[in-house]
Amino acid sequence: MLWEIKMKLTGRTVLITGGSSGIGLALAEALLARGNVVIVTGRRKEALEAAKRQHPDLHIYASDAADPDCIRNLHDTLIPRFPTLDTLVNNAGIMRALRLAEDRPLTEVTQEIDVDLSAPIQMVQQFLPHLRSRPEAMIINISSGLAFVPFTLSPIYSAAKAGIHAYTRCLRQQLRDTSAKVIEVAPPLTETPLFETEFKQHMPDQSGMSVHQLVGHMIRGIEAGRDEIRPGQSKILKIANRLVPKLIFQQLARVGEPWVRQP
Ligand SMILES: NC(=O)c1ccc[n+]([C@@H]2O[C@H](COP(=O)([O-])OP(=O)(O)OC[C@H]3O[C@@H](n4cnc5c(N)ncnc54)[C@H](OP(=O)(O)O)[C@@H]3O)[C@@H](O)[C@H]2O)c1
Repeated sequence: MLWEIKMKLTGRTVLITGGSSGIGLALAEALLARGNVVIVTGRRKEALEAAKRQHPDLHIYASDAADPDCIRNLHDTLIPRFPTLDTLVNNAGIMRALRLAEDRPLTEVTQEIDVDLSAPIQMVQQFLPHLRSRPEAMIINISSGLAFVPFTLSPIYSAAKAGIHAYTRCLRQQLRDTSAKVIEVAPPLTETPLFETEFKQHMPDQSGMSVHQLVGHMIRGIEAGRDEIRPGQSKILKIANRLVPKLIFQQLARVGEPWVRQP
């Protein structure tokens, strides 16, 4: 019974990085409706202000999760204002289709490592002392089904998501005797601006899970006390990677193959 109460997603103070769009915004909406205080970040002020117009109770902060100075400022601004902050959702993410044979500046090629891997690690590092002072803290890292099977079309993203999966497992193990519960959510292909802008052209016949369906899976999984939540295709990818690793890797590699091979 105590375990069930601990996992309830109500009455919390939640910080969601990248909460102005897609999965982060849908999660923010669902958590507001369940009586939580919700703070979201993002880089674009206009997107944050649009979210605030839709949901006046939302707290918005423009902050770049990939900039350590922004992380420090965010922490120093939020903790005095929201001392009950007990839930961190590392959701901000970018994903590009990349041809590795193309010429690119070195710092540009690793953008997904900065946003999807280094940023959540640095957020945890910065916020962990405060979170550990809360009686029932939660850290929720958003990875991807592609954490289990790399996607040739998005090589740096796949590396970053495999990295956040490994990191989250280690973090959970290290914090197992503390008040902080560590959860990984690995969404499948989901209908968001990220998918629409970069990937729809490579897979015109594919449709993803709706954000609201995904958020339903997340909330039910978290409340059930699960450590790793793998809705829909993500569960299949994890199993296929155990049973038929070469086959599933080759199958994903077919997506966008003509584009990748273009000189
Ligand atoms: N959609 C999918 O199919 C799918 C599948 C698996 C996993 N995921 C993961 O789910 C998460 C959310 O993705 P989504 O599909 O909802 O994408 P999205 O609709 O593009 O939203 C991404 C959010 O992250 C913010 N963001 C990006 N870079 C940021 C940075 N450096 N600092 C702060 N905020 C930043 C964006 O706002 P600004 O641009 O204004 O900063 C936006 O609010 C990501 O981690 C993604 O990898 C998505």
